[in-house]
Amino acid sequence: MLARLIYASEAAASLTPDSVQALLAHARRNNRLRDITGMLAFDSRYFLQAIEGGRQPLSDLYARLVQDPRHQRLMIISFEAVLRRSFSSWTMGFAGADASRRGLYLLHGASGQFEPHSLSGPAALALLSELAEGAEHDSREAAPVG
Ligand SMILES: Cc1cc2nc3c(=O)[nH]c(=O)nc-3n(C[C@H](O)[C@H](O)[C@H](O)COP(=O)(O)O)c2cc1C
Repeated sequence: MLARLIYASEAAASLTPDSVQALLAHARRNNRLRDITGMLAFDSRYFLQAIEGGRQPLSDLYARLVQDPRHQRLMIISFEAVLRRSFSSWTMGFAGADASRRGLYLLHGASGQFEPHSLSGPAALALLSELAEGAEHDSREAAPVG
């Protein structure tokens, strides 16, 4: 059964932009092997991530995410069965915090700050879908095999 999990978390203070890129590269390799797709947004303090795939691979990934010291305060925003993937061609899309996205983050945040922990499931999915337009990503289809 296909499912989508969306969660918010707060980055560890020690996390640098370079280490986020390294994290992404590793995540994309793993996700390709496990048929997981998704979208990660990072505004330099908070993460908001959607992961899509089989229920068991998603549950296993979430268990690893919870133990990862690179972020804390993980909160599940939604976990639901879906008929189709929203980020189907991406092993993990990424939207960072450049100025062009600032408005979008603020628009979806409460009290003038991006605080993804307060988003509803539909609002989080809408934000990630908007951020996915023009986001950095690698294509599942075009990726080298192996
Ligand atoms: C914000 C954030 C997002 C992550 N996203 C993924 C992901 O999409 N897929 C993944 O396999 N690991 C992801 N990770 C890393 C996992 O927490 C964990 O370190 C990794 O899955 C372990 O992989 P390994 O078993 O190959 O060492 C993420 C970590 C953080 C902090």
